[in-house]
Amino acid sequence: MASKLSILVLHGPNLNLLGTREPDVYGKLTLDDINQMLKVDATAFGVEVLIEQSNHEGALVDLIQQAIGRFQGIVINPGALTHTSVAIRDAIAAVSIPTVEVHLSNIYAREIFRHHSFIAPVAVGQISGFGVDSYRLGLRALVYFLGA
Ligand code: DQA
Repeated sequence: MASKLSILVLHGPNLNLLGTREPDVYGKLTLDDINQMLKVDATAFGVEVLIEQSNHEGALVDLIQQAIGRFQGIVINPGALTHTSVAIRDAIAAVSIPTVEVHLSNIYAREIFRHHSFIAPVAVGQISGFGVDSYRLGLRALVYFLGA
């Protein structure tokens, strides 16, 4: 039997504050709530997930680099780094691991500085605006993309 797919889920800066952070924009679920849902979904899909959060760009770059040989796909919400980080974009491009970009809010319906993503051109696709379902749909899309 083929071994299970392993998916890395990465949360960027300030997502550790979900639940209390601008709930009108990001909802009332905590990061732990979201992670628990993703773990339930992963079990249903028959894949393994490892979930990490960091407020630091370099730490996220390290996690993406360390994914080589360990993970077949990445789901990432880069938070504000979406709009600023060439380093995260380059890391995703460097590792060649299929990556889905997700956002709780619809970044295109918000301030203009959120309309540009450095990550989108190196991602398989992007899901934005569905709250926790952006993550859940992102995981599902990645599993389908990987043919699991
Ligand atoms: C976010 C959108 C970003 O613009 C913002 O900086 C975040 C969260 C989202 O999930 O909607 O931190 O990535």
